[in-house]
Amino acid sequence: MTGTVWIDGAIVDAAEAKVSVFDHGLTVGDGVFETIKVIGGRPFALRRHIERLHRSARGLGLDVPLSDARLRAAIDELLTAAPGGSDLGRLRITVTGGVAPPGSGRGTAGPTLIIAVAPLEPWEVDTVAITVPWPRNERSAVTGLKTTSYAENVVALAEARKVGATEAIMPNLAGSLCEGTGTNVFVVRDGALSTPPLLAGCLAGVTRALLLEELPEADEDNVPMAALPDADEVLLTSSTRDVQPLRMLDGRELPGIDGPVAKRAIDAVAELQARDLDP
Ligand SMILES: Cc1ncc(COP(=O)(O)O)c(C=O)c1O
Repeated sequence: MTGTVWIDGAIVDAAEAKVSVFDHGLTVGDGVFETIKVIGGRPFALRRHIERLHRSARGLGLDVPLSDARLRAAIDELLTAAPGGSDLGRLRITVTGGVAPPGSGRGTAGPTLIIAVAPLEPWEVDTVAITVPWPRNERSAVTGLKTTSYAENVVALAEARKVGATEAIMPNLAGSLCEGTGTNVFVVRDGALSTPPLLAGCLAGVTRALLLEELPEADEDNVPMAALPDADEVLLTSSTRDVQPLRMLDGRELPGIDGPVAKRAIDAVAELQARDLDP
């Protein structure tokens, strides 16, 4: 894996960066993270990502071990040091429970903080997804927190990849649409664009929030999974995909990039990124 890493105040090549084999993030997935798009060497929507990092950390009882000002300074330093200034990049902030005895109990060593940046390959303009039957738990202790415990997502995405899809879309326990493994989902039905409310158990996606703010027609609404086969358009949103419409879902063709709502959504996010990098 290529990239440049900030760890313990030092900036090193990804191949040199090291954490303990007893780090609680590694042994039990006790950690939180953020993935941030880097545009022209600058992080996009960093304020919102830092806010969510704090929310996730609080939810796990973790402290982010740097003040926001020092975190921003470390990110600046890292992006300046990264080869090519990481013109288009993926920045990741990870905070874990730190070194601890094996098992679920946390140790006393204090959290680990890692900031990494790597080049980002642009996504295709539209893509293929499947639905999977495994539900997200909208009533879990960690619902809505961006934790490093992504094994369920790994399994679901592997299922998608088996059939040439790039995302797996999951229901919640109530049988409503929840989210993808790394995306929020917007659906156009009878001309109306909606995305599940946070109570459906999805992550409070930064791109989701921006689209809800920027596109007056976008709204929150519960979407039964059973409604997906009749959707006119389906859009994925995430910090690295921005807005990526589906051209196929479960083998059914969709308009993808040619969808009228998809075009407006893509333009809305692109216009925002052009006028304000920290909305
Ligand atoms: C489970 C999940 N849902 C939704 C998203 C989209 O969130 P954002 O737009 O903040 O990247 C992500 C992003 O990584 C995610 O992991």
